[in-house]
Amino acid sequence: MTKPAKLMVGNWKMHGDLSANAALVAELLAATAQRQCRAALCVPSVYLAQMQTLLSGSSIGLGAQDVSAHASGAYTGEVSAEMLRDFAVRYCIVGHSERRQYHAETDAVVASKAQRALAAGITPIVCVGESLQEREAGQTEAVVKRQLAAVIQANGHCISEIVVAYEPVWAIGTGLTASPQQAQQVHAVLRTQLQAATAHADRVAILYGGSMNAANAQDLLAQPDVDGGLIGGASLKAVDFLPMLRAAAR
Ligand code: PGA
Repeated sequence: MTKPAKLMVGNWKMHGDLSANAALVAELLAATAQRQCRAALCVPSVYLAQMQTLLSGSSIGLGAQDVSAHASGAYTGEVSAEMLRDFAVRYCIVGHSERRQYHAETDAVVASKAQRALAAGITPIVCVGESLQEREAGQTEAVVKRQLAAVIQANGHCISEIVVAYEPVWAIGTGLTASPQQAQQVHAVLRTQLQAATAHADRVAILYGGSMNAANAQDLLAQPDVDGGLIGGASLKAVDFLPMLRAAAR
């Protein structure tokens, strides 16, 4: 089976404003690179309507950064998967380490969020990753497997519909990147875990995230189990992001 095209996802986090968003998207769409790989932008919820219009008919998919674990109801401030679907959202990050850390999201909550997204026809991008302390204690494999296991258990045969992002916490926004070998090692562990759960594990894109940039993207993407990237800081400027899309299109 030929491997699907690489998937490059920008995670804007809490950045952007109406005019900057429009300028960035115009630059990205004017370039051709994104047509040869799969690309998506995960934007703050308040900009979904704007981005739906800007990306409509383009090859860049629209993504959200979080979704409620509940279907609807008295959950002030939350946004449901069905609401995201109203804005043609195709991807939704779940379990980002910043949500696990600052919003106390547990593996069980992350698994429910993935379930809500899948039920609404949205691809959850499930983030897993170890802290520096966990890596130094030799717990990397155990941590990522525990995090993914919760999602596998809750989602059964739908598991081939998810995207996984390996994001070592110590590499996020720090300028420290996992080496291509370190990334591949963990990606291979995740692939094996997916293979035990589904016959279609090769279909699941496993993205690397954590200080990925134009200088290191190509080497990371060359690893056999690195199927794309989840990119924070370097997705905020076209001059940084476009070379990464080109590297993924090779
Ligand atoms: P970074 O963030 O690329 O800025 O390290 C990646 C992420 O947190 O998704």
